[in-house]
Amino acid sequence: MMGTGNIKKVGLLTGGGDSSAINDYIRTIVILLEKQGIKIRGIKGSYKGLIEDDFMDLTCKHVNGIQHTGGTCINTSRTNPYKLEGAVQKIIKNVEKENLDALICVGGNDTLGVALKLANEGIKVVGIPQTIDNDILETDHCIGFHSAVENIVKCTNMVTTSSFSHEREMIVEVMGRDSGFLALNSSLVLGADSLLIPEFPADLDKFSDLIQRKRKAGKKHGLFIVAEGVRIQGGKQIQDDIDAFGHIKLGGISYVIAEIVHSKIGIKPNVTVLGYTQRGGTPCPYDAFLATVFAKGTYKNLMEDKFGYMVAVVNEKPKNVPIADAVKDIRLVSKEDYDFAAGLGDIW
Ligand code: F6P
Repeated sequence: MMGTGNIKKVGLLTGGGDSSAINDYIRTIVILLEKQGIKIRGIKGSYKGLIEDDFMDLTCKHVNGIQHTGGTCINTSRTNPYKLEGAVQKIIKNVEKENLDALICVGGNDTLGVALKLANEGIKVVGIPQTIDNDILETDHCIGFHSAVENIVKCTNMVTTSSFSHEREMIVEVMGRDSGFLALNSSLVLGADSLLIPEFPADLDKFSDLIQRKRKAGKKHGLFIVAEGVRIQGGKQIQDDIDAFGHIKLGGISYVIAEIVHSKIGIKPNVTVLGYTQRGGTPCPYDAFLATVFAKGTYKNLMEDKFGYMVAVVNEKPKNVPIADAVKDIRLVSKEDYDFAAGLGDIW
């Protein structure tokens, strides 16, 4: 594809929680741009590197072989320049100093939200959705989601053998701050007895009743998938630190759920919190494939001078969506999909 020739040097950053398949995206976009003679600078640690003038070269040589690795080779952080005095001015200055004609911002709602603000400051931006939560509007997939589901399924298959042998209920807690897509997809794949997700407050009377009915019918072991962001009806969220975008650090709600269930029916489910195992390791093939589709869309935009868009993937093809439309809200699991997954386990 022949470009307009207006773009000669591009900055690339990855922000927010990392995931697998980011490096696949980085490798593909670097190859595509280098072939056109476009220079690409990696911005270290997301917006932090842009504020602190911390860049690294990204060439085909640098990215050779990184497609098999998880995480991001240019690091990430949850830096919000709009919360730091003078940071936006520093960003504008460093973009000029580095002669960056455009920025590629890869990340979730927070990273893309900042990208939108920078676009409004006059910087040419391309956004790419990357989050294991898969909660970005207008795109079928976000980089990292499918690998995380695969990790959840593999790890859960290890703990369910023990729950079968010991005839116990096992709660497996997965990530998902506001959206339950990780819990939904893994619950369907694993054939879980039920799932609890942030979109619908957990009814622990119903949950306990299902355990009792199931046991009475002879099924002594059980698997329940709980998203870390679930709210218990009438209860408070477990909280810890708050990040630069105002999000509470989650994790451990399942221990509270297990205690409550115990107090109701005298049965205490075991708990496994999968934590960062979900975001790590080699990407699954489908994620790695999607990363190349996202890179193809990015390349097209840079060649055609199209900015202010997030590259979505719809029907496995890249599609431009105004970043403003993608970040105006978060994508949630529908009641229909939740009931479908929950219904498959409630057969007693
Ligand atoms: O942004 C995705 C995510 O994995 C959420 O599911 C989770 O709540 C959060 O990141 C954890 O973030 P951190 O890496 O800051 O602990």
